[in-house]
Amino acid sequence: MRAILMSVFSFFAAATLSVTNSLAGEVEVLHWWTSGGEAAAVQELQKMLQKEGHMWTDFAVAGGGGSAAMTTLKSRAVGGNPPTAAQVKGPQIQDWAELGVLTNLDEVAKAEGWDDTVPKVVADIMKYQDGWVAVPVNVHRINWMWLNKAVFDKAGLAYPKTWDDFFAAMETLKKAGVTPIAWGGQNWQEATVWETVVAGVGGNDFYKKALVEADMEALKSDTMVQCFEVMRKMKQYTDPNAPGRDWNLATSMVIKGEAAVQFMGDWAKGEFTAAGKKPGEDYDAMPAPGTEDSFLFNVDSFIMFDVKDKDAKAAQAAMARLILSPEFQVVFNVNKGSIPVRSGIEEQPFDSIAVSSMGDFAATAESGGLMPSMAHEMAVSPAIRGAMFDVVTNFYNSDMSAADAASKLAAAVGEAM
Ligand code: BGC
Repeated sequence: MRAILMSVFSFFAAATLSVTNSLAGEVEVLHWWTSGGEAAAVQELQKMLQKEGHMWTDFAVAGGGGSAAMTTLKSRAVGGNPPTAAQVKGPQIQDWAELGVLTNLDEVAKAEGWDDTVPKVVADIMKYQDGWVAVPVNVHRINWMWLNKAVFDKAGLAYPKTWDDFFAAMETLKKAGVTPIAWGGQNWQEATVWETVVAGVGGNDFYKKALVEADMEALKSDTMVQCFEVMRKMKQYTDPNAPGRDWNLATSMVIKGEAAVQFMGDWAKGEFTAAGKKPGEDYDAMPAPGTEDSFLFNVDSFIMFDVKDKDAKAAQAAMARLILSPEFQVVFNVNKGSIPVRSGIEEQPFDSIAVSSMGDFAATAESGGLMPSMAHEMAVSPAIRGAMFDVVTNFYNSDMSAADAASKLAAAVGEAM
């Protein structure tokens, strides 16, 4: 309802503006950035477009991970009324392009030199038959653990580097009456933690085999059983209100010191930033145990739907150009918690966590530890991803054994292939 109202309000705002500035084009932008940090970040794009005389009609569909937004997008497209631009990523970009409904962005890409500034691993996701059909916004790292500094200091605990240290610390915190792990009980969040555990327990080669290649042997292996056991162990350090909790509410528990840690991608940092918290003073982030040499990446992007109106076309081109402009890459990513997706951006004014992420992105690209996130649509097909989500969530929310979970995982993925 809120989204509908917002779009109605924006429509009236846009209609009023069009009277004063008839040259302006309009973009209606569908996205799922509604938390404090996310909204602060996306507003920067809106401001920049408006500065160039274009109009922004906001169509925000709440729901972390974007599945509600994607359902809305599909129903609007089926109804013959797609927005001008939509936040879409991974293989879904190819699916939309195949339908022949997207604006080709090659002209902007050429003028702006995207081929020289966007890493090939990202550019390949954005292109369909060698043409640019999506514009990347950022690089998020998934495998982070967010820690409330005061909670650890008060308990006299060092930040845990191994899973053994981690569970020992969780036990101490639980005894001290703190909720050890801030948990968001939604399938995509459980899958986000799980893929981090798969990298942390199994290592990079195992992650690639299991979650990128969907290799049957890896999916039903003893290592996978161990990964599920770690998930099971985590559950005893979560609170009874976890089921259904949104990711940003879990982050807020860590921000307020009601919980000690959260495993989440670095959009969580956007919440700390929006709350005025500083890394090293109020909170810290470290790669989850065992994932120092892994970088599970997740790239956000926008596609543009083909429009006839030439002013709308101009607005789309402006939006695409602005997204990869150095100025926007800085201001957006500082607010969003991610790092710039294009080269040539200075480390200033990014915080220490972003700077270490930039270094790790480059280092893991060399070492082979840079790996696509399964949970965030960078790795496997939507059908396989759906099968993985179902097994992980069913396991986590039942008393299924870890061994059963691994064999169900292999069976479900096999069927989805
Ligand atoms: C997106 C992020 C977003 C997060 C939570 C992820 O899939 O890539 O941009 O902040 O979901 O909604």
